[in-house]
Formats: sequence, structure tokens, C-alpha cells
Amino acid sequence: MAEIIVPSGLEGVVVTETRISEIDGTQGILRYRNRALADLAETMLWEDLLPWLAELPSTSIPATETQPPILVDDPLRRLAIIMLTAAYDPKNPLAYVLRLPLLLGATFNPDQDPGSGSMAYRFLSMLNGHPAATSAASALNAYWVVVAEHSLNASTFAVRVAASTGADLPLSLTAGVATLSGPLHGGAPEGVLALLEEAAHCQDISSLLRAKLDRGERLMGFGHRVYRTEDPRAVALRQMFSRIASPDQVRLTSAVEDAALRLLADRKPDRVLATNVEFYAGALLAALKIPPEWCSATFAVGRLAGWTAHYREQQTTGRLIRPVARYRP
Ligand code: ACO
Repeated sequence: MAEIIVPSGLEGVVVTETRISEIDGTQGILRYRNRALADLAETMLWEDLLPWLAELPSTSIPATETQPPILVDDPLRRLAIIMLTAAYDPKNPLAYVLRLPLLLGATFNPDQDPGSGSMAYRFLSMLNGHPAATSAASALNAYWVVVAEHSLNASTFAVRVAASTGADLPLSLTAGVATLSGPLHGGAPEGVLALLEEAAHCQDISSLLRAKLDRGERLMGFGHRVYRTEDPRAVALRQMFSRIASPDQVRLTSAVEDAALRLLADRKPDRVLATNVEFYAGALLAALKIPPEWCSATFAVGRLAGWTAHYREQQTTGRLIRPVARYRP
């Protein structure tokens, strides 16, 4: 077989075709199955988006089950354990996937009745320890829809590699969780939360950000590898955030965003450095009082939709993914 040498990070290498989503980085459009994200974020429940994206027959949300205690603190690890232990019937994969957020939420607060309602309502009620406000549940739902899918990011690729071997859905999803757990993936807005916290306690936000840039630091929540416009996910989340955040939170977040955009445009006039999804994801999850250490796992719940869709697409159309490495002693 002839050797084809590609960049070590596989940048720009097309390894498969997909009908699940399309990223138009020039125009700043993200489409799920040909529908613009902007049309979906506020109109679709995540639990309906998931079967639509994954082309699965719909089913009702299962009731919360009792979960034996899980003896690890890290919420992502808990999610992986739940994936491996939750009841799975290959004939009804959707019921299995919809069980995961409920079981995960129940590990946070086993005594909190999640009530009935949307998945976002139930999850947030468990994490907040009281019935969630309708506007807050809608905001979490919109967040999950916005982060549900983003083409062949590292974790989705990992799920597809596992699926390509014929692995089952639960094990393939744990490959996604493992890959998401590293700091380079995104989906963990700690950097943004730290920036907002610092900004809340400083006298002059512009000076704070300027000093960071002078030290060669990057401003978290700005810039993107693919989008050469504002990240369409940031647009959707900004809208949601402004509806649920307190006036002080809105003022602080806009002040940081405005100052960052001004400084970045000034320093890099030939590069579009706009707000990315992480900025408003961090602000939104903080406004929803999701504990910071739960942000990655909350992101993972949303991304279950994309992972499941890619698992199924790989299963139906895929071939074993098995590249080669050149031995270099
Ligand atoms: N703050 C300050 N400077 C920046 C930023 C930023 N947020 N983003 C890019 N730049 C600068 C770079 O320093 C670089 O300058 P140089 O040419 O003088 O070295 C120039 O702009 C171009 O940067 P690249 O590294 O080529 O941009 P790239 O497209 O590779 O990086 C990335 C994209 C990694 C997201 C970058 O913008 C960044 O580090 N942002 C901050 C971290 C962040 O918000 N991460 C979440 C991204 S969203 C997601 O992954 C889902």
C-alpha cells in the first residue's frame, strides 16, 4: 500500500463523509442536518433533537432510577461509569442515552426529586437542589442544543473509531468521555470563569486584559480555528444568557467582551478574533449555578446527541478506521 503522509494532528484531512452537521466557518453558520443552529436553539428540546440527529425512533424520557452510589468525585468519570452500568438494550438505544443525564444528575443530589418536565428541567433541578425556574431550564436546554454537535471534533472522532470496530454504543460513548476529559478539547469553560472572576474584582477591565496580552497570554473565550466570524454558538448563547443573568452579570460579561474585542482587533487587525462558544457557555453555566467542576460533564450531556448520531452513522456507512504509523527506532 502506498504511504500517504498527513499532518500529525490530522488538520484539514478529510477522513469520512457525514450528513450530520456542516460548519461554514466563513459565514459563521453551523447546520445540523441542513437546518441552521439559529433556528433550533430556541425551538427544539434536546431530547427531541437527539433522536432527530441520530435518526432514531423517538421514545418517552425514562423515569429516574435509583443509582448505587458511585465512589468517584469527578463528574465526567461518574458519567463514564454510568454509561457502562446503565441498562442498555441495543433495540432501544435512545432510552439508554436518555437515561444517562438523569442518572448523572441523581449522583449529585440523590434526595432531590427531579420532578417531571424536559430533560434540562430535571437535570437542573437535581443540580440546583430545588425545582428549576422555567427560564433557567430553557437556557440549559438551549445550551445543550448549541453544543450537541460540532462535526469531527476529537471526542466525536474517538467515538467513530470505537464504533468502526463494531464496539457497542455504551463502550463507544466512553471513548468520547475519555477524549473530552483532556484540557485541549474545549467544553470546559474554567478559563472563562476565571477571567470573569478576575474582571469582577478589578478596577479597570481594559487594563487587566491589556496586561494579559502584554504578557503573551490568550484571552479565554475569543478566537477560533475554524470560524472567521463570530461563532454562531456564541450568538445563540449570548441571547439566552441575557435572559437569565442578573443585570450585574450582564454588565460585567458585556464589559469584558467589549474590551476584549476592542483590544484583540487593535492587536491583530488582519485576523478575525471574535467571541467563541466558550465565553458565553461559561457565563451561562455560572448564571445557572452549575458548579464549575460540573461544567465538562454538563457539556458532555449535550454532546451525547452528536456522539450517538456519529456512532450510528459510522455503524451504517463506516469502515474500520485503522491508519498506520511509521516505525522510527
Ligand atoms: N487571545 C489573544 N490572542 C489570540 C487569541 C486570544 N484568544 N486567539 C488568537 N490569538 C492570536 C494568537 O496569539 C496569534 O498571534 P501570533 O500570530 O502573533 O502568534 C494569532 O492570534 C492567531 O492565532 P492562532 O493560534 O493561529 O489561532 P488559532 O486559530 O490556531 O487558535 C484558538 C484558535 C486556539 C481557539 C485561539 O484563538 C485561542 O487560544 N483562544 C483562547 C482559548 C479559547 O477560547 N479556547 C476555546 C476555543 S472554542 C473551542 O475550541 C470549542
